[in-house]
Amino acid sequence: MRGCSKNCRSARFGTASRMKENHRLRGVMKKLLLLIAIVFCMEATMELHAQSQSGGKTLVAYFSWSGNARALAGQIARETGGGDMFEIKTVRAYPEVYHECTAVARQEQNDNARPALSGDVSNMAQYNTVFLCYPNWWGTLPMGVFTFLEAYDFSGKTMYPLVTHGGSRFGRSLDDIKKLCPQVVLGDGLSVSVFDANSDDSARVTTPDRDVTSWLRRLRVAN
Ligand SMILES: Cc1cc2nc3c(=O)[nH]c(=O)nc-3n(C[C@H](O)[C@H](O)[C@H](O)COP(=O)(O)O)c2cc1C
Repeated sequence: MRGCSKNCRSARFGTASRMKENHRLRGVMKKLLLLIAIVFCMEATMELHAQSQSGGKTLVAYFSWSGNARALAGQIARETGGGDMFEIKTVRAYPEVYHECTAVARQEQNDNARPALSGDVSNMAQYNTVFLCYPNWWGTLPMGVFTFLEAYDFSGKTMYPLVTHGGSRFGRSLDDIKKLCPQVVLGDGLSVSVFDANSDDSARVTTPDRDVTSWLRRLRVAN
């Protein structure tokens, strides 16, 4: 560097390092803006998702033998702003004694039975969100729920399953729902334990159940 003193050279190096620093800061800013844009887009998408869910009606379908799934279905209907409730009820009632009921249910499962139901959903097309509440029976859905799932076209609908159980949570039921209605969009489910060491056949959940309330909030379908 002809004609350039030591001070002059260090001034040039100083300018170069400032430029380098500015360049680095610009890079960081770009990345930050990109991140903000991504977060913004995700928020907008989630909002749209919530809006599209609230666009149609909600059906809360439930099967219950000793009242737990029924009580939670009622809570869901209330906390989602009054979804229509439908009881999946078999024509032939199950025995009221627990071990007799388990025996009948076991036989139905072994036979891969489709017990007849006593009612219909009059216009399934009007619902785009379906909550399905049921007890875990022998590791999966009661066979009457199999009948229900095969009876309607669930394509384009979002289904949120809630299972009550004595320890096995969902068991195989989610796989069975997917097999029975492959077109349904299966959303996040909730399992609620009704295990009570002192008794095995009476309703024990108390509503409102806090887990159900926070599940509905997570799904963004609560009031
Ligand atoms: C026929 C029958 C079979 C059951 N099988 C299971 C099971 O395999 N796993 C489990 O965790 N609980 C099992 N249970 C316990 C039920 O899941 C429990 O009673 C039910 O969640 C209560 O719901 P409900 O009051 O709506 O009927 C069974 C109960 C019955 C009556």
